[in-house]
Amino acid sequence: MRLILLGPPGAGKGTQAVTLIENLQIPHISTGDIFRANIKNETELGKEVKSYLNEGKLVPDELTIRIVWDRLDQEDCKDGFLLDGFPRTIPQAEALGIGLKERGLELDRVINIDVPKEVLVKRLAGRRVCKGCGATYHTDYKPTKVEAVCDLCGGEVIQRDDDKEATVLNRIEVYESQTKPLIDYYEEQNLTLNVDGTEPVEQLSAQILQALKDA
Ligand code: AP5
Ligand code: MG
Repeated sequence: MRLILLGPPGAGKGTQAVTLIENLQIPHISTGDIFRANIKNETELGKEVKSYLNEGKLVPDELTIRIVWDRLDQEDCKDGFLLDGFPRTIPQAEALGIGLKERGLELDRVINIDVPKEVLVKRLAGRRVCKGCGATYHTDYKPTKVEAVCDLCGGEVIQRDDDKEATVLNRIEVYESQTKPLIDYYEEQNLTLNVDGTEPVEQLSAQILQALKDA
């Protein structure tokens, strides 16, 4: 299956991706994760994108599209993929559509996770991530068993640089102006599956998997 996870910052895209890729046996491609890994490893790409991420701005389309196609053209994406955080602008969606068409491929579904703004701010303020394995926690909804230590790998659990309040508000604004129009864009192609992101994590995963099966 070729799927997109669409939704504002903090909607739960990364959280849902964990269950979806395990069930569907497809690779998880998160542009945010790719950029953060490059920043951590101090690569040329990392140096180029660092300020965009820290300020909650979008990385330029041309660069982002190139990175995504480099990844999608790898062998493990041959039979499907789950895109998380891409596309985020109409030009990115158009470039994805054109590239897929050139390769004789089609998207199956765009899962749109809807969550009200007040909830997003609370989720991002409390989100914590493992520096080692990337597992996601929340200070209130999903705390680690031992303070700041990952339950899964024992790594250090920290706050993401772009989860500070001012940056969070900026990211939500960028979403509203640049990414939200993609809901209608994919609605017109009959690809959108709208889901309520305020449902408990496991319940929402089950709902999405069922809807994908029924389609
Ligand atoms: P990216 O990493 O994609 O961040 P984002 O879209 O802002 O989304 P998040 O990762 O913050 O949220 P999420 O939806 O994954 O939520 P999560 O599951 O963690 O992008 C970061 C930056 O990279 C961008 O700002 C930009 O600079 C750049 N970038 C990336 N892609 C780009 C592109 N295509 N073009 C240009 N620039 C790009 O959950 C959040 C919290 O909520 C967690 O604590 C979790 O435990 C909790 N939670 C999740 N689900 C539930 C639930 N159902 N109930 C209760 N709590 C829940
Ligand atoms: Mg994420």
